[in-house]
Amino acid sequence: MNVLEVKGLNKIYPGNVPYRALNDIDLTIAKGEFVGIMGPSGSGKTTLLNVVSTIDRPTSGQVLLNGADPFRLLPEGLARFRRRELGFVFQAFNLLDTMTVMENIVLPLTLDRSKVDDMLQRAERIAEKLGIAGILNQRTYEISGGQAQRTAIARALIHQPQLVLADEPTGNLDSKSARDVMELMSALNKGEGATMLLVTHDAMAASYCDRVVFIKDGRTYSEVHCGDNRNAFYQKILNVLSLLGGNGHEFPTVRV
Ligand SMILES: Nc1ncnc2c1ncn2[C@@H]1O[C@H](COP(=O)(O)OP(=O)(O)O)[C@@H](O)[C@H]1O
Ligand SMILES: [Mg+2]
Repeated sequence: MNVLEVKGLNKIYPGNVPYRALNDIDLTIAKGEFVGIMGPSGSGKTTLLNVVSTIDRPTSGQVLLNGADPFRLLPEGLARFRRRELGFVFQAFNLLDTMTVMENIVLPLTLDRSKVDDMLQRAERIAEKLGIAGILNQRTYEISGGQAQRTAIARALIHQPQLVLADEPTGNLDSKSARDVMELMSALNKGEGATMLLVTHDAMAASYCDRVVFIKDGRTYSEVHCGDNRNAFYQKILNVLSLLGGNGHEFPTVRV
């Protein structure tokens, strides 16, 4: 069963000089897979994530989530679809400062009026797994970056979405916290069977994926698979990155 099927996807940003950001992209993600997307700045990673997450529409081509085309839904249905079937983790955490960690985690459920007891139980279970059970009553300005990102991950997973989309989830973290966050994401992927799509510049973060798809100039460039040796996988990722080139700040210091 494929959670995501992207076929012949094109995205052209209109304007005086229209810009082709995605060029005939094909991407299939099976249930339970953890897939990384890498590529130089401007290669179309965020555009791809935005189209897959239905925030932006494709110019042509197809996006199927669990076999259905979300773009056929009316706006209200599309909003509900996004809320129920997708989970988002961003670099900037996007937590609400005036609320506690617990309130932030259950936010996706409150939007859907889930039962309170059920909601709190689920939040406690997932907070336990992420090692943030002890800070549930703190406000988000009182916690560290690593704790904030774990809170964001808990929020992205609380409603058991079909697909979790992460854009640079370790971008604002020090290397120790980045590693912790990737280990937790990997554990949730394996333990909960959560299907995940991760955009990252960081080879260390990408090495936690089952496979990494590289894009360049809006086209698929190559793909590497993890197999059973994560260190070898990490090296393979570095090799493709050096072939890809791109400007220096896009592939910052190696973290391993
Ligand atoms: N809203 C937009 N309008 C016009 N061009 C855009 C828009 N968003 C992105 N682009 C262009 O599309 C290309 C891909 O951008 P993006 O998907 O953000 O790349 P990445 O995330 O890989 O850095 C870039 O050249 C960018 O300038
Ligand atoms: Mg981007």
